[in-house]
Amino acid sequence: GIPNFVKIVEVGPRDGLQNEKNIVPTDVKIELIRRLVSSGLPVVEATSFVSPKWVPQLADARDVMEAVKSLEGSRLPVLTPNLKGFEAAVSAGAKEVAVFASASESFSKSNINCSIEESLARYRAVTHAAKKLGIPVRGYVSCVVGCPVEGAISPSKVAYVASQLYDMGCFEISLGDTIGVGTPGSVIPMLEAVMAVVPIEKLAVHFHDTYGQSLPNILVSLQMGISTVDSSIAGLGGCPYAKGASGNVATEDVVYMLNGLGVKTNVDLPKLLSAGDFICKHLGRPSGSKTAVALSRV
Ligand code: HMG
Ligand code: MG
Repeated sequence: GIPNFVKIVEVGPRDGLQNEKNIVPTDVKIELIRRLVSSGLPVVEATSFVSPKWVPQLADARDVMEAVKSLEGSRLPVLTPNLKGFEAAVSAGAKEVAVFASASESFSKSNINCSIEESLARYRAVTHAAKKLGIPVRGYVSCVVGCPVEGAISPSKVAYVASQLYDMGCFEISLGDTIGVGTPGSVIPMLEAVMAVVPIEKLAVHFHDTYGQSLPNILVSLQMGISTVDSSIAGLGGCPYAKGASGNVATEDVVYMLNGLGVKTNVDLPKLLSAGDFICKHLGRPSGSKTAVALSRV
């Protein structure tokens, strides 16, 4: 059956804002994170310590992290692509990090400029350094059902990368449908393959909503026993290295669905809506959350 509690991992300040054309001011990012934390979200991914040449939108990672690091109530992980990023993250006050690999060779090259095996070697160095400091590391796998270049990705490739991340010590593996092409038809066999090599309680799902398939994909994932779901406030997001990919499933829509299922999340929907309203007003566009749009009319 469906789990009683679902841990929502809010990725809007990172996955959302990394893909905004206009760079969002640091103060606005900090206020967004504050509001997300105060809504009760257990995890708010704050930013990325990546190359500012590759992702100029998050070049202020240090300032953001320093401003939010003492907020209480949520874990505030950050993305780190290599040891350089890991060290910068730790020195800015990060207490949790995430590494990000891909099940597609082409996407690995375009996103982090190295092969899958090279990335796994880098991440072994990061997890090794993190272990010494007692810092938990999350592992992402991108392109778990499809790649913008290679098309369909076989479940065995996803299982391989997930098991490598798990074996190097990642406490959780988030399975990313980077370009949002998956349906329950492709997501179920992918999850079955990964569940055979990584315990289900260590898995998370991360759906982009390009084809509007996120909520059915999340529902089947919950039915298979997944209890950690990534989402983005107001459906912000995409990926700068996956052309045409739209935002993550909106956090408001996930909370609305989970409330309807009687699943606890600890998230206060009105406070979440106000965080979404805050960032949409700043960006000057309507929310990507259908729940937010519907409830704003009530
Ligand atoms: P590279 O150019 O191959 O790296 O980039 P390099 O090691 O040759 O270094 C080149 C320059 O970058 C050097 O500076 C380094 O110091 C600097 P220079 O000498 O030219 O002045 N550099 C760094 N600077 C700051 N922080 C660092 C860092 N590392 C090197 N950590 C690299 C390789 C991985 C750095 C680059 O490709 C990169 O930053 N990529 C990040 C891409 C990214 O952030 N993508 C989006 C996140 S992933 C995602 O969205 C998917 C996810 O949501 C799941 C899903 O949806 O599937 C997680
Ligand atoms: Mg993503």
